[in-house]
This record gives sequence, C-alpha cells and structure tokens, in this order.
Amino acid sequence: MKTVKVTGWGTYLPDKVLSNADLEKMVDTSDEWIITRTGIKERRLAADNEVTSDLGAEAARKAIDQAGLKPEDIELIIVATVTGDTPFPSTACYLQHKIGAVKAACFDLSAACSGFIYGLITAQQFIKTGFYANALVIGAEVMSAFVDWQDRNTCVLFGDGAGACVLEPSDDDRGIISSYLGSDGSQTELLRVPGGGSKIPATKQSVEDKEHYLKMSGSEVFKLAVRAMAEAANKALGKVNIDCKDVACLIPHQANIRIIEAVAKRIGLPRDRIYFNIEKYGNMSSASTAVGFCEAVEQGRIKKGDIVVLVAFGAGLTWGACV
Ligand code: UT7
Repeated sequence: MKTVKVTGWGTYLPDKVLSNADLEKMVDTSDEWIITRTGIKERRLAADNEVTSDLGAEAARKAIDQAGLKPEDIELIIVATVTGDTPFPSTACYLQHKIGAVKAACFDLSAACSGFIYGLITAQQFIKTGFYANALVIGAEVMSAFVDWQDRNTCVLFGDGAGACVLEPSDDDRGIISSYLGSDGSQTELLRVPGGGSKIPATKQSVEDKEHYLKMSGSEVFKLAVRAMAEAANKALGKVNIDCKDVACLIPHQANIRIIEAVAKRIGLPRDRIYFNIEKYGNMSSASTAVGFCEAVEQGRIKKGDIVVLVAFGAGLTWGACV
C-alpha cells in the first residue's frame, strides 16, 4: 500500500467581486455586521456565462500542469460539488471534456463543504491500492446560483471558486498520513436546498416558494461545526500520535471566522498557524479547503516536512480531516 501525495495544485477565482458595500444596497445588512459576525469582506461571483465545470476546469489545468502531466494522463476525476452544472450528468464529465482528460473515469462527490476532504480520501484509496496511477480531485462551486439574494441570513455568506489537486503515489512516506470522516444524517434539515430533486421537482409553485434556494439554521450549524471540526482534527492527528502543537498549518473550512477561532481554541492551536481566506472569498463550500490548501502552498505557508491538517464541516451533516 503506497503513501499518496499531492503533486499538483491550482485555483480559479472568478474576476467579479461582490463587496459588503454592494450587499448593503441589496438587503438590510451592513459591512460592520458582516465583518464582525463572519469575517467576510468580499466574495467572488461567477460570470453569467461561467458554470461550475468552467471554474473547476481552470483550476484543474493549472494542477495538471504543475504536476508535470498532460490531461490525457489523468486516470480518475472526482469533482466535489453541491452546485453542479446540471442534476446529471456529473460535473466531472463536463469538466473531463473541457480539459481533454479522455482516459479518466469521472464522478461527482456530494459531501457539501467537506467534499474536498472526502474527495482526497476517496482518491487516496484508488491510488493506494494501485487501481489508478493518479487522480484529479477538485472542489468547485457556484454557490451564487443557489443563494436567495433577498435573504440576508444567507446571501452575505457565500462565494464561488474552485481548487484542484493531482494525487500520485509518493516515493517516500510524505503525503496523506491520516484522515477521519464522519456524517450525521439525522440533521439533514439544518442546511439544504429542498427543491430540484425527486422530493420536490421544479414546478411553478416550487419556484414561487423559493424551494430551489439554500436554507440554513445558522446558529445550530455554528455550534455543531465547532464541535465536529475540533473532533475530526483531533481524531485524525490521534491516529498517528501527532500532537496538535506540532501542526505547522491548519487549513479549515472557511464558513465563519468565529467558527475557525473556536476550533483553534478547542484544539489548542495558535492563530498564526491557521490559514484564513474567508475575508476575500466567503464560504465556497467544497472549494474553500481546496483553494485554502493551494494558496497556502503557493504562499510558502507549507514547507517540505510540515504537518498540515485540512478540516471541514458541512451539510449532511458531514465532517472530516486529513493530515
Ligand atoms: O458551510 C457549512 C456550514 N455553515 C456554517 O458553518 C455557518 C454557521 N453559522 C454561522 O456562521 C452564523 O450562525 C451566521 C453568520 C449565519 C449568523 O450569525 P449569528 O451570530 O449566529 O447570528 P444569528 O443568526 O443569531 O442572528 C443574529 C441577528 C438576527 O437578528 P435578531 O433576530 O437578533 O433581531 C438576524 O436577523 O442578526 C440578524 N442578521 C443580520 N443582520 C444584518 C442575520 N443576518 C444578518 C445580516 N445583516 N446579513
């Protein structure tokens, strides 16, 4: 069984910026409320002609190039998304065609904000066993297509973006050394898009009732997120007997700066070892940890030999961590 490591990384953030000042003109909110309650200053929005697979494809091309591979070398593509181009076929298939990864097997993975970590661990199994020689894992979301732009409780929180990693077998023991995944299907009501599936297919009524927009019980999700992310990080580190004080960089899901700070406090990690990008991008669901990881590498926040932990929490509920 081989250790699996990241050999390529890339991000794509759409050009269009939506600031808190812009939101003040759309709903009853304020820059001050958004910053103090969430830590978000601005977020990116996909252009009208950009869909999730476009964002993912841009990030994927950079990751493949960085890994020194060609699209036709890629054997597996997993797109973690809850905002796919269409209910089916998979966004991974649209993306495959856009980048020309003709040899790859493709599927989407639905684990909401934890999706990129679920994707990394899924791909790791395929490579570990020798089933595939490499995999492309992408977290890509166009949250803006599912946000009710009249609901101040949710519209200020989310943004669009994509991050991608190429995984390959490691020639030493560096790479993914531990992980932990969890889910609780008794809490599906807390964060969801009720309509558009077999339960509430699209009708004139369902559209009028706003069933196709994201709904969230914010304060309940907040408490569960802190507990689950701290537990996931501790469990993944505990499996390999690594103490939190030896973690060089924590890359958490970026839903709320107060959640991240509370998680850091629980696991006893100082602020300067946490990667934040919530201020610039808001919550990009599965793309948050993907973009966070790629940016941390590009900015030199992660160096050879460092212990790095990715941790996330999201709808499902789902949570997970990867060391
Ligand atoms: O990505 C995966 C998971 N998602 C999360 O982890 C998100 C978790 N939840 C949160 O981050 C926070 O709960 C929120 C940011 C969503 C809300 O923050 P909060 O401190 O929990 O606020 P709240 O929901 O308790 O609302 C406090 C007040 C309410 O007014 P009243 O009822 O006290 O008069 C809200 O109506 O703030 C009001 N409010 C706003 N005011 C101005 C809610 N949204 C806004 C807004 N601008 N955008």
